[in-house]
Amino acid sequence: MSSIQGQAAVITGGTRGIGRALSLAFLEAGASVHSTYQGNEDAAMKTRELAGAHAERLYLSRCDVCDPASVEAFWKGLEERGVNVQILVSNAGIRRDQLLALQKLEDWDAVLDTNLRGSFLMAKHAVPFMLRARYGRIVFVTSPAARHGFAGQASYGASKAGQMGLMRALAREVGRKKITVNCVAPGFIETELIGDLPEELKKEYLAMVPAARFGKPEEVAWAVRMLCDPAASYIHGTTLEVTGGL
Ligand code: NAI
Repeated sequence: MSSIQGQAAVITGGTRGIGRALSLAFLEAGASVHSTYQGNEDAAMKTRELAGAHAERLYLSRCDVCDPASVEAFWKGLEERGVNVQILVSNAGIRRDQLLALQKLEDWDAVLDTNLRGSFLMAKHAVPFMLRARYGRIVFVTSPAARHGFAGQASYGASKAGQMGLMRALAREVGRKKITVNCVAPGFIETELIGDLPEELKKEYLAMVPAARFGKPEEVAWAVRMLCDPAASYIHGTTLEVTGGL
């Protein structure tokens, strides 16, 4: 891969699970990394610790991706510090699984707000930076739940399908400006997001995976890092699945 050394990457939900692996992968590649987190200070501190010698290029900010004022303040801070953002990875996401007929409206809203509205808000602020630079890489972390449909995941699947629609439209809007926009859809990845699944359901999911194992956050981070490489300039408007064949 060519270099993203010296570039600035924004990663939402960048201090846990897949997001933490993303932060560390981009630091390793020489980028400065602006990772947002919602409120888990311990996870943020742990990420800083894991960054080791690269920690001086890691900037951690509290930012609620659902909240327009919080997102605006985050991007304003970057602007004021003269940070030119080349890379956005919209990774923050939640699940509130329930059968559709039983799903509470507030849970539906929380999932759509975090996964879809959060992606919209972050991209809305990132795009002007990239248009000015006439260069950019945007990746939305989605899920095969968008096409597959898992019982109990109507809200999650809808939010992830929404991110894909958003990605396709934005790809058409900015394609001429040397900005690429893509999705990465991880399969079952060993993070806290799926940690609360009942053991029986985990076994059922595992049986569906041709690779016969769950994935690791670092395997997703590799794919995202690849799409954010300058050399990935003709991979645009698509979804890369990292699922072990699911
Ligand atoms: P995780 O639960 O470990 O991390 C999610 C991150 O999102 C956390 O850092 C959390 O603080 C952040 N977040 C949640 N709400 C937020 C908000 N309102 N504002 C700012 N940050 C917020 O989960 P994981 O597994 O690392 O998930 C990352 C992404 O990957 C999500 O978008 C998820 O939907 C997606 N994904 C995960 C899969 C898995 O099997 N773990 C499978 C497919 C997709």
